[in-house]
Amino acid sequence: MSSRVLSPLVALTLLLGGCENPVSAIGFERMIDQPRGKAFKASPYFADGRLMRTPPAGAVPIDGAGSRDRMLGLAGDTYASTIPIAVDRALLRRGQDRFEVYCATCHGSTGDGKSIVAAHMSLRKPPSLVDDPVRSFPPGRVFQVISDGYGLMPSYASALVVDERWAVVAYLRALTLSAHVTLDTLPAAERRRAEEALR
Ligand code: HEC
Repeated sequence: MSSRVLSPLVALTLLLGGCENPVSAIGFERMIDQPRGKAFKASPYFADGRLMRTPPAGAVPIDGAGSRDRMLGLAGDTYASTIPIAVDRALLRRGQDRFEVYCATCHGSTGDGKSIVAAHMSLRKPPSLVDDPVRSFPPGRVFQVISDGYGLMPSYASALVVDERWAVVAYLRALTLSAHVTLDTLPAAERRRAEEALR
């Protein structure tokens, strides 16, 4: 061993050997016992003596204000069978945008479960979201999967606020519809376009 390696070791041995409690010598104790406030405790810092603060008037939760059912994907004690916010083009666009960022990586950009990530997943693969059984899930159940995760799939609650999750659910309905539309149900002009494209 060279003396360049040895000298720091010697220094450390001397430091630790020289005092009774090496931990307090280094100062860990100060980091472990830091002064901090605890919920419901008193505090001389504020005039009313309480530590917990009331949010300023007009403050809204980061997730937006909403009913319990809307926040949880429920209708009473069952899954919501409809989307509890107004579905318009802007919401669908938002849903598409969020779906492509957060879901398409695994479930494929058309939601059919075909993606590079899926091809490499050896345990349970991300299922198609536009075919059964997911296709028949009530909207509230899909909302809950996004909020809480499911099995190997992580929760997206920290990435998507409540209404963005509903936007993704709404967009998924549109994807599901488009995945199963039959040519004879299309308006004549659309049908001609589709037939051109399929030719
Ligand atoms: C990292 C990959 C990945 C991403 C990203 C992902 N999922 Fe999944 N998803 C999975 C996997 C894997 C499963 C199957 C989990 C299992 O069976 O353990 C799954 C399952 C599901 C299911 C079926 C759950 C059930 O009850 O059977 C739904 C619905 C779903 N995902 C929706 C979404 C939506 C919507 C997004 C975007 C917000 C998303 N997933 C993002 C990997 C992913």
